[in-house]
Amino acid sequence: MDTIPDGSELFLIDAWAKFAPVPNQPLAPGFDAIAAQERNMRYAYLSTFDQVIKAERERPSLRLVIARSRGDRYMADLAPDSVDFVYVDGSHYHADVRKDLLEAKRVMKNEFSIVCGDDLEVFPTPKLVEISKRYDRIDFVHPGKVAEAPDGYHPGVLMAIAEHFPDGVAMQDGFWWVFKRDGKYVRE
Ligand SMILES: C[S@@+](CC[C@H](N)C(=O)[O-])C[C@H]1O[C@@H](n2cnc3c(N)ncnc32)[C@H](O)[C@@H]1O
Repeated sequence: MDTIPDGSELFLIDAWAKFAPVPNQPLAPGFDAIAAQERNMRYAYLSTFDQVIKAERERPSLRLVIARSRGDRYMADLAPDSVDFVYVDGSHYHADVRKDLLEAKRVMKNEFSIVCGDDLEVFPTPKLVEISKRYDRIDFVHPGKVAEAPDGYHPGVLMAIAEHFPDGVAMQDGFWWVFKRDGKYVRE
């Protein structure tokens, strides 16, 4: 928070809703983490509320907005070329991440802005993108299933990043980022 300039606006967007990929289908093995998240949604929402109240007390010049919405839907109402910084850490499913990044790129300031996110455990390669297409509706591929990602990875995040940033992103310990400079996406 300390590095955020006075007068900034922060939009905290979370769906806080069921986001299992296939309606009325039981969650497959390994989706227990998602199910656990769904059970804790109300507490997560209230904890965000408490954090916002605390932040407003410490930094009264900031405008903090909590929005219960899908990321792509909320960003669709924001003007193009208007946002300095986007952090994407919502759904890991390919279809959702793709839409989030599409909207993020549209709202990001062309002159200079940053988009970043979590859950990119390995850098995309043409081979890994091909393999990942088998897991289009899978949140997380467990360790040992794909040789190129021995510790497991999020195929949807990897495919969406490969599609939206073909020149690559920077990444450290699963956290990824890319700058937009004069309309171009660059790692530095
Ligand atoms: C891995 S958690 C991360 C939450 C938060 N970014 C953090 O670091 O604490 C993923 C969150 O994404 C939310 N979510 C899932 N799909 C979403 C979507 N399409 N748009 C916005 N939020 C979504 C879930 O409700 C969940 O709280």
